Amino acid sequence: MLEVELCNLKLKNPMVLASGILGSKSSSLYRMAEDAGAVVTKSVGLHAREGYRNPTVINYAHGLINAVGLASPNAESFARELEKYVKIAPLIVSLYAFSAEEFAELTKFFPMADAFELNLSCPHIKKAGLEIGSDAELVKEIVSMVKSKTKKPVFAKISAMTNVVEIGKAAEEGKADAIVVTNTLKGMAIDIMSRKPILSNISGGVSGEAIKPIALKCVWDLYEELSIPIVGVGGITTWKDIVEFMLAGATAVQIGSAIFYSSRYFYSLKESLIAYTRWTKEKLSDLIGKAHN
Ligand SMILES: Cc1cc2nc3c(=O)[nH]c(=O)nc-3n(C[C@H](O)[C@H](O)[C@H](O)COP(=O)(O)O)c2cc1C
Repeated sequence: MLEVELCNLKLKNPMVLASGILGSKSSSLYRMAEDAGAVVTKSVGLHAREGYRNPTVINYAHGLINAVGLASPNAESFARELEKYVKIAPLIVSLYAFSAEEFAELTKFFPMADAFELNLSCPHIKKAGLEIGSDAELVKEIVSMVKSKTKKPVFAKISAMTNVVEIGKAAEEGKADAIVVTNTLKGMAIDIMSRKPILSNISGGVSGEAIKPIALKCVWDLYEELSIPIVGVGGITTWKDIVEFMLAGATAVQIGSAIFYSSRYFYSLKESLIAYTRWTKEKLSDLIGKAHN
């Protein structure tokens, strides 16, 4: 009752581990994949990145603000780690890069990937992420160059801090197989005692409950205008949120910040979704876009 199909990938349920959340070790990915429909890795680039100095993550009342700075090993060592992943759910490798050529080159390191997710939306990295993901022409060029180098599904992860319909259409024209929306949204916090920004990077990306209505509206708008599948992400904490995103038009959803509060989150959400589908006697996939009727 929970199965969904996303660009020919068969997911046992629509819940996907979001990028950057427990996603650089094969063992953590495996643990999440026991109950999640698929897992996305931390974003990886060609070269190793140290990321920003601590503090990089703030836990506040309605979610998190992070500026980790895409800390990750280089593509080669990351690929060696991912080779150890035992595939009990599809593996989606998230890539970040500074040009279309770099994005395309990265794909060859990851034969174990079932799909690629292009990070066109990280709000706290210079000359990558959101900085390139706000330019519709560039988004189209990046997606089509990656598509010319791989036969695997390519997802464009875009930001609610853009004109999502314009950027989503550009990705679709570049032949993206799906759109993922949204990454974290720019935000900050100030410590009133020291009178200084808390994050070493000054600002970061807001995730968690606070951004759910924003992400939901993005899914809604994209479903009205695009024909490729949409993956909704942002602030999902309960099974009802998942149902809401699917009714708005999401084929699948990603869950990030909520996992920090319980590593058994996917299990309990799955059990609730099973109970819900028993009650409605409908497959979850029947809900996709139903709120538009
Ligand atoms: C600590 C942290 C690290 C993240 N790292 C990445 C990343 O490497 N690549 C990426 O595309 N998104 C990254 N994200 C964004 C999440 O994948 C997700 O889009 C966002 O947090 C919204 O979902 P949520 O509200 O369920 O957390 C990160 C988020 C957090 C909180």
